[in-house]
Amino acid sequence: MAFERIVLIGFSGTGKSTVARLLANRLGWSLADTDDRIVQEVGQDIPAIFASLGESAFRDIERRHLLAALGRQRVVVATGGGAVVDPSVWDGELLGAKKTLVVALDAAPETTLARLREQELQDGAAVSRPLLQGDDPLARIALLKATRQGAYDRANITIVVDQISSANVAGEIENLLRLDNHLEPSQVLDAPGGRSEIYIAPGTTDSIGDLVRRRWPKTRRCWVVTDENVGRFHLDALTERLGKAGLRVESRAVPAGESSKSHAVVETLYGWMLDAGIERSDVVLAFGGGVVGDLAGFVAATCLRGVGLVQVPTSLLAMVDSSVGGKTGINHRAGKNLIGAFYQPQLVVIDPSLLATLPPRELVSGWAEVLKHGVI
Ligand code: S3P
Repeated sequence: MAFERIVLIGFSGTGKSTVARLLANRLGWSLADTDDRIVQEVGQDIPAIFASLGESAFRDIERRHLLAALGRQRVVVATGGGAVVDPSVWDGELLGAKKTLVVALDAAPETTLARLREQELQDGAAVSRPLLQGDDPLARIALLKATRQGAYDRANITIVVDQISSANVAGEIENLLRLDNHLEPSQVLDAPGGRSEIYIAPGTTDSIGDLVRRRWPKTRRCWVVTDENVGRFHLDALTERLGKAGLRVESRAVPAGESSKSHAVVETLYGWMLDAGIERSDVVLAFGGGVVGDLAGFVAATCLRGVGLVQVPTSLLAMVDSSVGGKTGINHRAGKNLIGAFYQPQLVVIDPSLLATLPPRELVSGWAEVLKHGVI
């Protein structure tokens, strides 16, 4: 669908105004920054408006400018952090209107505080945020952000911006707008356990961030499980690509080999994820051969009763077999693969160029499987 309005929402310090300006330039669209328009109309800076007219008058003016901006076409709108909290702005005529893409920019409270301090150093008190003043600004930010999170989560897409520049965030949004045109799955597998979109091409892991983002537009965190061998060669590049797409990345490398398909390793992974607050909307990415695929797939199937699963196989055997089969599990002392679940990965990204770092023995075992499929 061709969008006509892109609206950036989110807490202060996430870069909405800068990203909107860059994006409008890239797309050749006009820009509407509600805070700027309020300042222009009233002829005072925002702290002065809060002091003289009060918050509720500010909100009335803000709403008027938001409505005016949403009435336009080919426009990128930057909103103030509190502009989308009132549920009525989400109705079908406004943020919920057709051809309107709402993108939430998300940052940790620490990032917000650091950015706001930097802005105040550069531009002075005129840019200070009246609602965030007080003794413990970090706590105020965390509290106000948490209160508003439900509104921000109504966006069509969420992009985590802590690690990326505003230019990259703008580039990422532009990519997403254009993505529908050039990235199509090589296969769509409708298995009894669900649908897998399968992308197969050398270099396709370059687009991993965009693929994950497109499949799960609201995901904030991606939990990468790999093994120590694969991790050594490829984890940094993968992490960078996911981060650039605006995903927060957590990663764990388990020892390579069958012994990692154990209850003890599963327990460690559960502890790692649950202690760090994994959410239902998060995604687990299995990055490795069959062992990692089975193990991470099982964890994805069972943690919080199931979160999103991406398989990025790095061995030939996993590419042609286990990554698309939907079988996950671990071993038990009574035998191999005795504990597990059928859990179809929603996304499979097969990049044969990853095979270049494999020892020949692993390639041979993969070819045997390819031949078997050819014969049967
Ligand atoms: C506000 C955020 C500010 C500005 C005003 C109120 C808020 O915009 O609209 O200070 O309620 O969070 P930014 O999100 O650009 O900081």
